[in-house]
Parts: sequence; structure tokens; C-alpha cells
Amino acid sequence: MEFLNKTAISTGAASGMGLLFSQCWAEAGGNVIMCDVNEKVLAEKVSEINEKNGGRAVGVICDVRDYAQVVTACDRAVAEFGSIDILCNFAGGTAVRMLGVDPSLEFPDIPIDVFDWGIDVNLKGQFYFAHAALKQMRLQNSGLIINLGSITGEEGDGRGMDYPTAKSGVMYGLTKSLAKYGSRYNVRCVCISPGPVLTRPAMANMKTLEGRAAEPQEIIDLILFVASDKGQFINGTSLLIDGGRNAMGRA
Ligand SMILES: NC(=O)c1ccc[n+]([C@@H]2O[C@H](COP(=O)([O-])OP(=O)(O)OC[C@H]3O[C@@H](n4cnc5c(N)ncnc54)[C@H](O)[C@@H]3O)[C@@H](O)[C@H]2O)c1
Repeated sequence: MEFLNKTAISTGAASGMGLLFSQCWAEAGGNVIMCDVNEKVLAEKVSEINEKNGGRAVGVICDVRDYAQVVTACDRAVAEFGSIDILCNFAGGTAVRMLGVDPSLEFPDIPIDVFDWGIDVNLKGQFYFAHAALKQMRLQNSGLIINLGSITGEEGDGRGMDYPTAKSGVMYGLTKSLAKYGSRYNVRCVCISPGPVLTRPAMANMKTLEGRAAEPQEIIDLILFVASDKGQFINGTSLLIDGGRNAMGRA
């Protein structure tokens, strides 16, 4: 019960790491506001958490691209639980995959609104949530913002260019800037930047020095360590957790 009565906001919480974080946080006694656009799945996952012993979960339908919805989600956290102790910005993914773009199209042939979507979800979504949550974190004089980067923010991608553009912006400019501002109010900001993670079987095809992709639990364990008493000196940095992929060089 390490996080007993602490409040988390988890975005992209209907699936993958956002969901697993929410489950682990509640198991550790914390309460969680779970944000996603997938209304049906979110409701199911929230109920599953609330059927167990542990912290409470509340689902909020929230598109991270919409600042008004982001503010509503943060207000809901304060109304329900009285604080925002940790914000975890999981919502994201490559637009060409998530929007099902024809794989034969090259970068200049892919409609620009695909890239708008990718930059909005992966960069502006994390920026918006930090902006809204910091109002409460400043008031309470404490907090932790966890951004999600990616090995692709180091490597680039010759086609789905929104994703590395957004992720490297989050990993460096946004994370360092939020840590600088946050230090006035005891708020830390840390970016967790995974290599391939098995939230989808296809991620097993990405090479690493370890010869495998990460289990989602390995990423969540790192986040929980950063949030724990032992992780308090970690701030303003992007932690790569990539099985050594970054050391392999670029194709
Ligand atoms: N899986 C990997 O290999 C990997 C590697 C590096 C980084 N990441 C990053 O980790 C994060 C989580 O990845 P995952 O694989 O667990 O994701 P996932 O695809 O399993 O889940 C993403 C969730 O985000 C939600 N979502 C999509 N658009 C949204 C929006 N506009 N507003 C709110 N919610 C929205 C989806 O409904 C979904 O539930 C992402 O930011 C991703 O870029 C993943």
C-alpha cells in the first residue's frame, strides 16, 4: 500500500501501459482518474479495478487533444480525491498505425491531417495535461509528472515522422522545462522512454541487445520506482528503457 490515498491521473488508460499503471497504482492503495477516448473499454476496466480491494478508479472520457476536456479531467481528480500526486501521460502512438494509413504511401503522400493527429496526441496532449495539472500541483506544493517518450525519439522514422518529432520534443524540451518550472513547487518531471514493449505482439520484431521486447510490467515498475521514496532524486531527464537498442546504432 505504498501509494495509499495518493491520486494519479493516467491517460490512455483503457489499454496497454496506461491501463497496467492504473491497475498497479490501485493495487498499491492509490486512487486513479483513468482518461481515454474508448468509452466502452474504459468503463469495463474501471469496474474491474473497483471490484478489487485497493484504491478507487474513476473513468473520464477525455481526448487529450482537447484542452477543455483535459481541464475537466484534472478538475475531476481534485473533486473526487482532493489532489493530483502523479500525472502519467500514456496516451499516444504512431499516427500511421493508429489511423490505419496505407503502408505503400511515403511521407509526402500521407495526408497532413494524419500528422496533425500524431503531433496533437503525442506532443500537445502531454503539454496540455502538464499545463492543467500544474495549477493543482502548485497549490499543493508537490507532484510528479511522468511523460512518455520512445526510442523512436532518438532514432527518427523515415515515414511516420510525427511520432519521433513529438516524442523527442517531450523527452527533452518539455520534460526539462517542466522540471525547471516545477522545482519551485516541489514538482518533478521525468520522461520514461521505452524501446519495444509487448503491448502488441508485433513489437517483438524490433531488435534489442537483450534479444527481446520488454514486458509492459518492466516499464510500469520503473515508473513506480521513480514515484517511490527511493526515486526522489530522478528529475528533468529521459530514462531510456530499451534493452540496449540505443547502443546498437542506427540503420
Ligand atoms: N508499446 C510500445 O512498444 C511503446 C514503445 C515506446 C513508447 N511507447 C509509448 O507508450 C505509451 C503507451 O503505449 P501503449 O503501447 O501502452 O499504448 P496502447 O496503444 O496500448 O494504448 C493507447 C491508449 O491511448 C488511447 N488514446 C488514443 N488517442 C487518444 C486521445 N486522443 N485521447 C485519449 N486517449 C487516447 C487509446 O484509446 C488507447 O487506449 C504511448 O505514448 C506510446 O507512444 C510505447
